[in-house]
Amino acid sequence: MFIAHTIPELRAHLERFNRTALVPTMGNLHDGHLALVRQARGLADAVVATVFVNRLQFLPHEDFDTYPRTWAQDCARLESVGCDVLFSPREEDLYPEPQTFRIAPDPALADILEGAFRPGFFAGVCTVVMKLLQCAQPHVAVFGQKDYQQLLVLRHMARQFALPVEVVGGATVRADDGLALSSRNGYLSPAERAEAVALSRALRGLADAVRAGARDLPALEADAMQALRARGWQPDYLTVRRRSDLQAPAPGADAASAPLVALGAARLGGTRLIDNLEFAPAD
Ligand code: PAF
Repeated sequence: MFIAHTIPELRAHLERFNRTALVPTMGNLHDGHLALVRQARGLADAVVATVFVNRLQFLPHEDFDTYPRTWAQDCARLESVGCDVLFSPREEDLYPEPQTFRIAPDPALADILEGAFRPGFFAGVCTVVMKLLQCAQPHVAVFGQKDYQQLLVLRHMARQFALPVEVVGGATVRADDGLALSSRNGYLSPAERAEAVALSRALRGLADAVRAGARDLPALEADAMQALRARGWQPDYLTVRRRSDLQAPAPGADAASAPLVALGAARLGGTRLIDNLEFAPAD
């Protein structure tokens, strides 16, 4: 695996490949990331993974400083799944001067759900992804569906800027008990880890209720949040939305037939977890 830290090193190395696939990450790689690399291998001649903890997408009180940085382990894991190139810029390589230009995503998609609780998050994500795409100029970029809203925002960005890249989603990888794999799971104590699966169960409960014919979504969502609170969680949202634009399904037609997704974000102790579950009312 070739490792590049600077943009010129990366670009010079990539000249030898016809078709590349990019897998952007912030490191601390788990099996979910490795599945994205495997998926990317089937889509291109060479896979370029990136490891960069992007300051622009963290709020001042969030975990930028403590975000797990596991360089040696990440390199070994990427090698083990046949990643061809690792681009891991230092901050001064990617942001040699203050990054004053930012991508401003559509507020209708980016200021709801995650964006409502993490203002500026998607502007930070879009800005770094735009820059990583410019650095590597891949034909395909693969992002995990676990970050469902992020995937939609990035697809929208690629479409609106006519970027010559196909944005592809990779299925969420789960632990045996159903917990979605996430770098932040490492923050959980053993007791919290045992409890953490309650988030995906709550989303399944919402989906099952809608499939069983329940249509009062605000009441269902409020009950699901209350049930998590009773177990010691602090939920930000648990909600059922249309997959296409993450807006609430219109009562009647949408709620009865549109492709839907249940999305949730909740804090367990000091750890904020997110998850989602796609379903259709008539599944
Ligand atoms: O999903 C992530 O890990 C990050 O948001 C990404 C896409 C690598 C941008 O920093």
